[in-house]
Amino acid sequence: MFINGSKVTDDFYDKGANYWKTVDATIDGMLGGFAHISNIDIKGSKKFLSQFIEPLNPPDKKKVPIDHQLKSENKRRALDCGAGIGRVTKNLLLDFFHVVDLLDVNQSFLEEARNHIGPDIYDKRIGQAYCSSLHEFKPNEGIEYDVIWCQWVTGHLTDTHFIDFLLKCRQILKPDGLIIIKDNHTSSDEIDDDMNDSSVTRPHWLYKDIFTKAGLNLISEKRQYQFPKGLYPVRMFAMKAEKIELNQK
Ligand SMILES: C[S@@+](CC[C@H](N)C(=O)[O-])C[C@H]1O[C@@H](n2cnc3c(N)ncnc32)[C@H](O)[C@@H]1O
Repeated sequence: MFINGSKVTDDFYDKGANYWKTVDATIDGMLGGFAHISNIDIKGSKKFLSQFIEPLNPPDKKKVPIDHQLKSENKRRALDCGAGIGRVTKNLLLDFFHVVDLLDVNQSFLEEARNHIGPDIYDKRIGQAYCSSLHEFKPNEGIEYDVIWCQWVTGHLTDTHFIDFLLKCRQILKPDGLIIIKDNHTSSDEIDDDMNDSSVTRPHWLYKDIFTKAGLNLISEKRQYQFPKGLYPVRMFAMKAEKIELNQK
């Protein structure tokens, strides 16, 4: 298994999953002790996503109850990858999508998501909660997404698995669907390893290289501003692609 030509150990995925078992199922746990950046992160994401999709209940329009909208056939659906306890789903995705599916390697985070999002909303609007590593993800047949959102998780994938995962995303996107990646990148051209949580931080060019290899067209890219100094730069990438057929083994 390789990341930009450097071999990672065979236990790369087990070590990552084991690290997350030691982390509290809280916002602070999801954000590595930076719970206070959650609001600004969500604000930046809302602005970015609003370029492409209107919220379900835009502030300047008459409110249509979501329960009513849920009966419509044109329900919008998103997949939250590396969802954790559902911080992004609760504060961002449920404002734009009628139904959201969660995907995370950690079962206890997914269980906590029901409390975090609120049991009432969870039961009505969370479709699937897939417990799987991204590189082993087997989506249910027949579900397609308007947006697949991956935030602070792709550093847990090798390059090959990252590309394979993006190819899988292309199979389950609606024709006009978007893949959005929000993640750290290094300020240099080099990769940084984190032995603690078994992840890497990629340089900006390597993301672009991976997107190209997965056949994605980058349609918008934006830096997240107003994060505290000393953190990695964070960028949002929105991508489209031609659909490819689902071929599951
Ligand atoms: C930094 S947290 C981010 C959580 C969430 N995206 C957010 O922004 O609040 C990383 C999440 O990725 C999950 N994760 C780590 N490795 C993973 C993998 N290989 N496949 C799926 N999820 C993974 C962890 O369990 C954790 O919930």
